[in-house]
Amino acid sequence: PRKFRTVHFQQAKDEGRRFAMLTCYDAITAGLFDQSGIEMLLIGDSVGNTVLGHATTLPVTLDDIITFSQAVVRGTERAFVVADLPFGSYEVSPAQAVESGVRLVKESGISAVKIEGGSEYTDHVRALVSAGVAVIGHIGFTPQSENVLGGYRIQGRDDDAAAAMVEDALALQEAGAFAILMEMVPAAVARRVDEALRVPTIGIGAGSDTTGQVLVWQDMLGLRQGKMARFVKQYAQLHTVVTDAVSTYHREVLEGSFPSEEHGY
Ligand code: KIV
Ligand code: NA
Repeated sequence: PRKFRTVHFQQAKDEGRRFAMLTCYDAITAGLFDQSGIEMLLIGDSVGNTVLGHATTLPVTLDDIITFSQAVVRGTERAFVVADLPFGSYEVSPAQAVESGVRLVKESGISAVKIEGGSEYTDHVRALVSAGVAVIGHIGFTPQSENVLGGYRIQGRDDDAAAAMVEDALALQEAGAFAILMEMVPAAVARRVDEALRVPTIGIGAGSDTTGQVLVWQDMLGLRQGKMARFVKQYAQLHTVVTDAVSTYHREVLEGSFPSEEHGY
């Protein structure tokens, strides 16, 4: 398609095809990912960690998400752009969710919102969809609840928790979510959820049987050194590319070899 819409992700699920999503927080990166064929871009509240330097996603505001979403939308031609409703912008009531979701769509031009939570948020999802805001549900490990969940933990490990996850996913689908994202869930449980659902699933640390996959771009391109979650595959080592290039620039400036004649007027 010339431009991805919700129907294309449903078609992927129906036809047994997959799709790829990446986080994205600025216009240049959006252009790169869009040209690479990525079907779905996410302005995740992970922007709190990756761009704003916070330790968690909790301090991210709706205004923050709107600013980064505007940049991504401006840099995107073909991909479907989704943004997170951040912590504190939707929990209080379906009305609060609609107010935040409508404002986000109106002010940035994104095509859908993602909200964390299961059955307890079906009224919020239904209200958003009724208002014209497309929704992706996010279940499994939900970072906005890390203080309740007790840190970064795999979810749905025992039989009861796995059954509850299937129920949550079905309830969100029933409420009108057009896709369900699962984070840090055993592969077998994610497969069970995907099989139970009509709508597409998206996984991060959820095995290979979801319709789509998502990763945080700075993690998958190796922009950061240090310990990564097990589900992160680093497809490049941009950390080394950047530090090598910047060290060379630094050395050349101190030596006086940059700028040379060709870079002057
Ligand atoms: O904020 C984010 O980056 C996310 C993805 C990890 C799914 O929610
Ligand atoms: Na998020």
